[in-house]
Amino acid sequence: MPRYAHIIGWGKYVPPNILTNDDLAKTVDTTDKWIREMTGIGQRHIASSKETTALMALHAARDAIEVADVNPAEIDLVIVATATPEYVFPATACLVQDALGAERAGAYDLEAGCSGFVYALSTAAGMIRGGMYNTVLVVGSETLSRVVDWNDRATCVLFGDGAGAIVLRGSDEPGGVLASILGSDGSGGELLMVPGGGSKHPPGPETVLSKMHFIKMNGREVYRFATRVMASASRQVVEKAGWPLEKIDLFIPHQANVRIIDSAARALKLPPEKVFVNLERYGNTSAASIPIALCEAIDAGKVKAGDHLVMVGFGAGLTWASCAIQWSAAKPGVTPPQKAAASRLRYGWSGIKSIGWRLSRRIDAIVSKAIELTERKAPEE
Ligand code: UT7
Repeated sequence: MPRYAHIIGWGKYVPPNILTNDDLAKTVDTTDKWIREMTGIGQRHIASSKETTALMALHAARDAIEVADVNPAEIDLVIVATATPEYVFPATACLVQDALGAERAGAYDLEAGCSGFVYALSTAAGMIRGGMYNTVLVVGSETLSRVVDWNDRATCVLFGDGAGAIVLRGSDEPGGVLASILGSDGSGGELLMVPGGGSKHPPGPETVLSKMHFIKMNGREVYRFATRVMASASRQVVEKAGWPLEKIDLFIPHQANVRIIDSAARALKLPPEKVFVNLERYGNTSAASIPIALCEAIDAGKVKAGDHLVMVGFGAGLTWASCAIQWSAAKPGVTPPQKAAASRLRYGWSGIKSIGWRLSRRIDAIVSKAIELTERKAPEE
């Protein structure tokens, strides 16, 4: 029975289209200077109409699966953390499961705002440590550009699109995700929300006219909340893992505002070289920000086997989440071309099978209808 949950694969995807602060300054009353000084953001990636939450999740997931060197058929569960799902239902995770050909996997979405990825990672690790599953794919994917009011300078400068994924696997080898803290304070729900489109305010002309499908945020209050919880959730998780604070080798915080990150780092007495920051290039990608940052930290050589990592997020809910990880994976080598070709073939075959199942469901429906009609006619004859 595995007792530890290790990250064995990782991947990310960001849309190629970049929107700089100067681009934004042409459409709303803002400046590059204001955005950089107040947030640390310089640009963000914006999805095209074809790049949806599921598609970006799929790209990131395929990369993570390749690094992990697992067959999608070995995956037991797919969790997609997102606040901007493909549809109200079905879950984005089901679309990803199908496109990957992860035929044995269960799949569901997890909504905890920008804390979603750490919530999902902690949940998956708990399932593995409890013996329920052995291999879990966790993705954070967001197309926030679809719910941003591009006329609201207070929010449109903050957010970006993208996806990050990891593969978690059970093992008896000590390490991996060692401790988690999940928190919620629903009394602050209205401080950061998309009010329209749910059961309280179903979509209609009124919700569209009053812009209820866009992000509404009280930035100042969210800022105050974030500076409070980032440090405390990190302290708590480190304590739960049984580490002193000095043991942290790399701190990977949710990338929302560099001033929030600096404040948490100061409170934890972490020097800048132990804090990973990449929001200058991506803005706030919500549930995708931490896995994207993890991938970049690995690529930059900042994560080595045996390192002690802390991830911490905060966001809508209000929610917060942290986890302490002892890194165990070695950096993978370059995938040989034959293996990459085999993966492409496998995904192509999964796509064909999926189309086949859809088709057979339709044929089945037509045949059933024909039988029903024949049976109804039969007594008259
Ligand atoms: O994942 C969680 C998502 N949310 C967050 O992380 C948000 C956390 N909050 C923040 O990062 C900060 O609150 C902001 C950076 C969003 C705003 O900073 P602030 O110090 O709270 O500014 P403010 O909203 O109180 O606005 C200060 C001034 C206002 O002008 P007046 O009323 O003083 O004349 C705003 O209208 O800054 C103005 N302002 C801007 N000016 C230029 C607001 N947005 C902009 C802008 N460009 N984009």
